Amino acid sequence: MKHIISCDQFKREDLENLFQLTDAMRGDLSHYKTGLADRIVATLFYEPSTRTRLSFEAAVLRLGGEIISTENAKEMSSTVKGESLEDTVRVIHGYSDALVLRHPDRNAAEEAAQVSEVPVINAGSGSGEHPTQALLDMYTIFKHHGTLDGLSVAVMGDLFYGRTIHSLLKLLALYRKVTVFGLSREELSLPDEYKRYLEERNLQYVSCRNFDDLPREVDVIYHTRTQTERNLNAGMEVEEFIIDDFVMDRFPQNAILMHPLPRNREIAREVDSDPRAKYFEQSRNGMYIRMGLLYQLFR
Ligand code: NCD
Repeated sequence: MKHIISCDQFKREDLENLFQLTDAMRGDLSHYKTGLADRIVATLFYEPSTRTRLSFEAAVLRLGGEIISTENAKEMSSTVKGESLEDTVRVIHGYSDALVLRHPDRNAAEEAAQVSEVPVINAGSGSGEHPTQALLDMYTIFKHHGTLDGLSVAVMGDLFYGRTIHSLLKLLALYRKVTVFGLSREELSLPDEYKRYLEERNLQYVSCRNFDDLPREVDVIYHTRTQTERNLNAGMEVEEFIIDDFVMDRFPQNAILMHPLPRNREIAREVDSDPRAKYFEQSRNGMYIRMGLLYQLFR
């Protein structure tokens, strides 16, 4: 049984295999439409979600599987009656063949995996990780640049609480000669544990405090929203680094602008028509990558 908990668990070849399978599925959806026949996938979300839950559910349905779901588990499940996550998992694994879990605690997915008899997929664990988002992000970068080695990547926004950033950096660290520029206000800098992780794997990480600290020649610009639902100081909700057409002018024509979404004001709407803006394509890729992952899980 294979849980998907953290990006620590992936190797380069896992990503290559997944991307190949995902491309094959996209090219011939009808061939895979019974891939999850007779399988039930439970989606258990204790935090809000649009893309992650719906793309997982669409992926299951496109592969011929069925869904059981509590999209607001915090208020609609027996948690309200004081049930622990472990107990909830021990019940749901009896009804389903896999469990997709989003939860505000960093260790929730790991704890769920310890008691679950079916694969647990981490769909976002607090300010920890969001591995399936990172897989779709890497897939999007690979589709555009044709390689994941030698890239120069600017990540920005909330590097402290942003779980999509944490997972993405772990996957980038699998590749050669990657340089990451991390742009944020000081309070939202990348936690030391991730800096150490990157250093140990020879990924060069450069902290930046304003747009001028970024080199012009970047291949990927990855923005994120301030995670206002985590414990922030007053004033943190005001976006510090807003990307508009003027800021986009400084970046090369073959760079791509990504965002896990939802966005607030950190990317101005005017940028949406820039051909380098890939965030909607990125969210669409999410469904296909999750189809690939689910298909692999049951092989
Ligand atoms: C992200 C998340 O939930 O971590 N959203 C997503 O899954 N695409 C990003 C965010 O909420 O800011």
